[in-house]
Amino acid sequence: MNLILLGPPGAGKGTQAVKIAEAFDLVHLSSGDILRAERKNQTELGRQAQEYMDKGVLVPDDLILSMMIGQIGRIDAGRGFLLDGFPRTLAQAEGLDQRLEAAGRRIDRVVNIVLSDEIVTKRLTGRWSCPQDGRVYHEMFSPPKASGKCDACGTALTRRKDDEPSVVAQRLRTYHEETRPLEAYYSNRGLMANVDGSAEVSAVTDAIRKVCQAV
Ligand code: AP5
Repeated sequence: MNLILLGPPGAGKGTQAVKIAEAFDLVHLSSGDILRAERKNQTELGRQAQEYMDKGVLVPDDLILSMMIGQIGRIDAGRGFLLDGFPRTLAQAEGLDQRLEAAGRRIDRVVNIVLSDEIVTKRLTGRWSCPQDGRVYHEMFSPPKASGKCDACGTALTRRKDDEPSVVAQRLRTYHEETRPLEAYYSNRGLMANVDGSAEVSAVTDAIRKVCQAV
């Protein structure tokens, strides 16, 4: 099964992607995590992406498409994948479909995690992440067992620069203008399933598993 997780920033895509990839044995590809790793390693792509990410706007489609298509191309033909944060524009969705078709692959389900702008803002301003393994925590809603440390590897948790309130507001504007049109794109192809992202983490996981089991 090949899956896309859609939804606004802070909807819980990263939180759910780890659980769903484990449950269905999928390769998890997060465009945001890959870009942050490129930045950390100070690659040319990371350098180019930095100014866009810090402003809360999208990195240009051609850079993202070649990065993500390259990553998908490395996955064994028999293995499924879960895309988190990609595609995010109609040009990316069309580019993805063309490349997958050429490779004899396709998307089987698109899960849209639905959440209001108000809750998104609360979620992002309380978020902490592990720079080592990408696990995500929230100071109120899902705190780590030991304060400030990743449950899995013990690494000190960090906050993302783009979680500052002014950048969150820009990320939400970008989402409504550029990513929401994907809902119609995938609905028209009969692939979309909406899931309520305001429920507890385990309830959201159960809802996503349910719509994926139907594939
Ligand atoms: P990216 O890293 O993809 O950020 P995003 O999509 O804005 O999503 P987030 O990672 O912020 O949120 P999430 O939905 O994963 O939520 P999470 O699980 O962390 O992108 C960053 C930037 O990179 C973009 O702005 C852009 O510049 C660039 N970029 C990336 N992909 C691109 C692309 N395809 N094209 C162009 N540019 C691209 O949860 C959030 C918080 O809520 C956490 O604290 C979590 O613990 C908590 N939480 C989660 N679920 C629940 C729940 N059910 N109840 C209570 N709390 C919860």
